[in-house]
Amino acid sequence: MNNPKPILSFIALFFCFGMIVAQEPKTIPQVEELLQKMTLDEKIGQLNLLTPGGGIATGSVVSKNVETKIKAGQVGGLFGISGPEKMKKAQDLAIKNSHLKIPLLFGSDVIHGYKTTFPIPLGLSCSWDMKLIETLARIAATEATADGINWNFSPMMDIARDPRWGRIAEGAGEDPYLGSAIARAMIKGYQGDNLADPKTMLACVKHLALYGASEAGRDYNSVDMGKVKMFNQYLPPYHAAVDAGVASAMTSFNDIDGIPASGNKWLITDLLRERWGFQGFVVSDYTSVNEMIAHGLGDLQAVSALAVKAGLDMDMVGEGFLTTLKKSVQEGKVSEGEITQACRRILEAKYKLGLFEDPYRYINTKRPATDILNETHRKTAREAAARSFVLLKNHNAALPIQKNAKIALIGPLANNKNNMLGTWAPTGNPQLSVPVLEGFKNVAPNAIITYAKGANISDNPELAKKVNVFGPRIEIDERSSETLLKEALEAAQKSDVIIAVVGEATEMSGEAASRTDISIPDSQKKLIRALVETGKPLVLVLMSGRPLTIPEEFALPVSILQVWHPGVEAGNAIADVVFGDYNPSGKLTATWPRNVGQIPIYHSMKHTGRPTESVEFQKFKSNYLDVPNSPLLPFGYGLSYTTFEYSDLEIDKKEIGQGESVVVNVTLKNTGDFDGEEVVQLYLRDVVRSITPPQKTLKGFKKVFLKSGETKTIPLILNPDDLKFYNNQLEFVSEPGEFEVFVGGSSTTEMKQGFTLK
Ligand code: NOJ
Repeated sequence: MNNPKPILSFIALFFCFGMIVAQEPKTIPQVEELLQKMTLDEKIGQLNLLTPGGGIATGSVVSKNVETKIKAGQVGGLFGISGPEKMKKAQDLAIKNSHLKIPLLFGSDVIHGYKTTFPIPLGLSCSWDMKLIETLARIAATEATADGINWNFSPMMDIARDPRWGRIAEGAGEDPYLGSAIARAMIKGYQGDNLADPKTMLACVKHLALYGASEAGRDYNSVDMGKVKMFNQYLPPYHAAVDAGVASAMTSFNDIDGIPASGNKWLITDLLRERWGFQGFVVSDYTSVNEMIAHGLGDLQAVSALAVKAGLDMDMVGEGFLTTLKKSVQEGKVSEGEITQACRRILEAKYKLGLFEDPYRYINTKRPATDILNETHRKTAREAAARSFVLLKNHNAALPIQKNAKIALIGPLANNKNNMLGTWAPTGNPQLSVPVLEGFKNVAPNAIITYAKGANISDNPELAKKVNVFGPRIEIDERSSETLLKEALEAAQKSDVIIAVVGEATEMSGEAASRTDISIPDSQKKLIRALVETGKPLVLVLMSGRPLTIPEEFALPVSILQVWHPGVEAGNAIADVVFGDYNPSGKLTATWPRNVGQIPIYHSMKHTGRPTESVEFQKFKSNYLDVPNSPLLPFGYGLSYTTFEYSDLEIDKKEIGQGESVVVNVTLKNTGDFDGEEVVQLYLRDVVRSITPPQKTLKGFKKVFLKSGETKTIPLILNPDDLKFYNNQLEFVSEPGEFEVFVGGSSTTEMKQGFTLK
């Protein structure tokens, strides 16, 4: 008999070798040739990213003398400009006037759609629909590239468990498993299979890392976190983006273990490149290199050297690289090799985009007319918005509303174009958005609708000033609040049902928009109370860029539909849901606290050594004197116009070995009168392990459609990696022992079965 061992070891060697080869960065001959020709100044020039100031400047600095710098070979890319004409002009400067004719990268923040603005990312994550999210990213790429953009500063993958932080709006919420799935979908949508396709663009995962954990929810603040929490809870979505082949990454403003991300070698080189195998380039955030001076790490030369030595390739706006790196090389503080390496990574990205073959590949004056804001894109935006809404409460089944009802449509956001797009939509045009009143008329032409503003978003002129930086978001009416309220009450009296569209203005969330009080502003609270007094059925359509604290409103006899900031098709999508053309299916992806004192609060919290056994206060147990531990609304929560019943939870094996999967089956029945979709969620509890486990954590989900009365068996698979965690040596392991599997329609589900890992 032949001995199979030599063959096996040959195969093993081959794979080992193959793996080593795959890890080795492959050089691109054209790029290497170009590097040979470049002077040190020209290499440094490629590391410089500027904005001429056409878009939204997210810092106090805007680049100067951009044209001169491009011609001098001192610019690697631009952002904040758009449109084929402008892009052509800029590219011409590089191609026709600079010595080596190296094409520019054109970046942009296409966060939730380009001109066709989709719901804010936090809203979209509530759809739990990966196919949809990928499609939206594809549309965004088609539109943005039609306008000359080839590099997108998205996806934002910062886990956020503090709704005071305004940028919670830009991400996928609190959970690393869901966040990772969304990262994969978005990157696939943006980058497609071929970056040289003129309809795809480089994605940029941001903000590495832990930006969402800014202390006290205050933007740009410090972060302090242990590695075990970091690896298990905060890093997975960035890691998933790397595994999905993301072409670039952006560092964050915060420090990690005392070193700001943009100068953090452990983060950029040891973790991102060496441990995760990231092959793309890393850009700083807006002046985040310079900000290390304010962090207390030295002068501009010192922090720029720190950044490039840490592995940062491109300096956004700050020009510290441009102005100090040559001196640092001359003084022996940075090696030319380190600069060549950074430059190589940027040139490789340009090569992958096909820019060396054709620098004008993304510049096509014909494309905007067909590819941007077309009817198909708007239709998808409408569907996406409807799918992002979460029905928080349906008192007396007030929703959906009859299409011929007498409706009082009330509220400062009910007939308002300026607040539909949501934060970080600099490429969208608020004036093209559909306000709720218009959507109602489109969808229910036979309804009798009386509109009244009822209240200002806020009566506070100081707040209005801070929020109105990009245009009028909070407009304080010339009429008194009494007059506004009177008009609303008159409208209410004439109606069968009141629909009040209330909440936050767009710029009350987003960058530099943190709040310590995340309740509905007082002006609107008063309006809601007065409307309840009328005794008419009241539906609150609630807009916000974050979870709000709404214990008072939730306790009222009202229905609540959470619609985030829904994007360009806002009014139509809201009408589709309110009038029952679409049955809401969204589920929360960030926990809604009872009050800000409960923050941080999230579904995968740990057990304490002194857990409470009841909702009643217990002395010497881990609880509060004033509120229960539970949130107002848990992660994964969301209602439908129909009802679903779960039964027969089964696991295919009671015992498995390392490396084996389990199949979990559950029976789901639509027990109500409407067809509808349910997000079936699977949570895992690792009962005993070497480090304290979370009470339960999301490890699977499936969105399923069931006709009224229909029953389906839903299979969910737990893969070997789903049982793993980072232990306190930061090894990714699963440990033998008991596991409990919970399945249901929210994170509070109690339906469970167990299995053992041998
Ligand atoms: C600052 C933001 O933090 C980042 O997300 C964005 O991409 C840049 N500004 C560029 O606009």
